[in-house]
Amino acid sequence: MQSTDFPASTSKTSLPHVKTDIHHTPIPAYSACECETWRYLLSRQQTQWPDRACDEYLEALEATGLSPASIPQLADISDSIQHQTGWTIERVDGIVPDQIFFAMLAARVFPSTDFIRKPEDIDYTPAPDMFHDLVGHAPLLTHPRFSNFFQRFGEAGSAAFAQNHPARVWLARIYWYSVEFGLIRSRQGLRIYGAGILSSHQEVSYSLSDATTKHRFDLDHMAQTPYDVWHMQDTLFVIDSFDQLENEFARWTAHHGLA
Ligand SMILES: [Fe+2]
Repeated sequence: MQSTDFPASTSKTSLPHVKTDIHHTPIPAYSACECETWRYLLSRQQTQWPDRACDEYLEALEATGLSPASIPQLADISDSIQHQTGWTIERVDGIVPDQIFFAMLAARVFPSTDFIRKPEDIDYTPAPDMFHDLVGHAPLLTHPRFSNFFQRFGEAGSAAFAQNHPARVWLARIYWYSVEFGLIRSRQGLRIYGAGILSSHQEVSYSLSDATTKHRFDLDHMAQTPYDVWHMQDTLFVIDSFDQLENEFARWTAHHGLA
């Protein structure tokens, strides 16, 4: 999960991102315990996704080649995604400073860790790990409309930093309620597309239960709604489609001078 505060900064300059080649990144030697953690986490989530995860995500997951059988190499997943939408993956050590994170997204680069959580953190890790980054985020990078929205999000964030604009806080909330905890309407009912839900054992069923309040997609409402990272998410927003997500975000950023 990427940083979600987007704290105020005194910097008024945008920061260009210089891409590095994932193929030159050393490949970790994963232990048997780490391989078992990956297998267990992905297998467990796969039992929860039918009739809950959106079709776009499930189809993208399959096309990306992620499987419980083995821990993937970032370069392989990056190549698969690049072939479809031009996005690439870059290895990072953990949470990326917000300004750099925005610049990476604007350049169609997604930062991912290449290490996996410890067994004692199997159900929840507040720090990023490759299960959340790859299983939660990577598949939808292959979706044309979602990936366009994600790039535009990076551009808006970069513009907000360059202008020292209050939208940095609004964008953090929009990110939370869409990229991490978004729901989407389908003909079969509500489905999940947010990475924070899809990669969480508890949030998958909780998000679609009557315990949560589900609002229609409204970027101003999202921007004004604080969130709590330490508890199950009670407040969620529902998009009608990824077309709506891309188009309405484009209008919203233009309205706020962030396009
Ligand atoms: Fe995330």
